[in-house]
Amino acid sequence: MNPSADMPHSEPKTVAEAAALLRAGKLCAFPTETVYGLGGDATNADAVLAIYETKGRPRFNPLIIHCADLAMAETLAEFSPLARKAATLWPGSLSLVLPARPGNGLADVATAGLDTVAIRIPDHSVALELIAAVGRPLAAPSANPSGRLSPTTAYQVRLGFAGRVPVIDGGPCRAGVESTIVRVDGDRLVQLRAGAVSREEIEAAIGVPVDVAEKNAAITAPGMLTSHYAPNALMRLNAVPVAGEAYLGFGEGPAFAGPSRNLSPSGDLREAARNLFSMLHELDAVGAAMIAVAPVPNEGLGEAINDRLERAAAPRE
Ligand code: TXA
Ligand code: MG
Repeated sequence: MNPSADMPHSEPKTVAEAAALLRAGKLCAFPTETVYGLGGDATNADAVLAIYETKGRPRFNPLIIHCADLAMAETLAEFSPLARKAATLWPGSLSLVLPARPGNGLADVATAGLDTVAIRIPDHSVALELIAAVGRPLAAPSANPSGRLSPTTAYQVRLGFAGRVPVIDGGPCRAGVESTIVRVDGDRLVQLRAGAVSREEIEAAIGVPVDVAEKNAAITAPGMLTSHYAPNALMRLNAVPVAGEAYLGFGEGPAFAGPSRNLSPSGDLREAARNLFSMLHELDAVGAAMIAVAPVPNEGLGEAINDRLERAAAPRE
């Protein structure tokens, strides 16, 4: 299959071409170190609405705003001393939820009308050059149709949107799962979403304990879908595979004759996070009806991996 066969646009080959699209209010997918983002000018309400529309996102769920540097971030939000300390992890896979600065120019739909804003400075040269070239913050959710697997390559973005969205190719993403989202709450940090930076790493860097919000408390609203990141296949977690299934292993596992991948034969959680979405995409492509998944320890990056696996395995609506 060639998803770019009937693309109504030519792919941006350079940062300047991608920046021109974004400045004109068009969308362009771009690489970050976590996953590919579906980028739009965060100050342009039409561009942000096009993001929701393109993803088929069922409701206005606030987006993460990507900045090129701290100076840009400071025009958008109020940084307390603790927030400033947390920002020393930037560029990086940490999104900070901070009080929005009044009149910051962001489109209301980008923050879903909240008085807080989630910001990050991605650790990827293409993303940083792109945001700087646009000269405006970019709203960017993962570049996949709502509820489906997040993309970690440009190819997966093209496949997901059937070539309808331009994408600048920056190779495979290093981290492979989305950023960790942390709310700065007075003198506390509260993790709203586990992600590519573990709580232990944040605590070690900042010297402040990171509390964990109740599951799904990030933006709770009635009817919020728990099923997310879903492949076409159904999934069984903490499972031993049986004939007819595909198998996603971790560490040393049972020998299995069917289609299989191993997130990390040596049991390395960073490698497993990097491989997670790609391997689910690959196993999905073999057409199995069920993917059995080996247990993954729930420590460090395992927290983010298990969160994504549980959502992928949740009952579909
Ligand atoms: O790694 C990532 O974070 C990727 C790449 C592209 O940067 N982006 C990403 O964005 O995962 P998205 O749209 O899938 O995640 C946005 C989530 C929302 O679902 C919401 O839970 C949370 O960020 N969020 C955004 N603004 C918030 C706010 N003001 N308060 C609380 N949560 C917020
Ligand atoms: Mg997403």
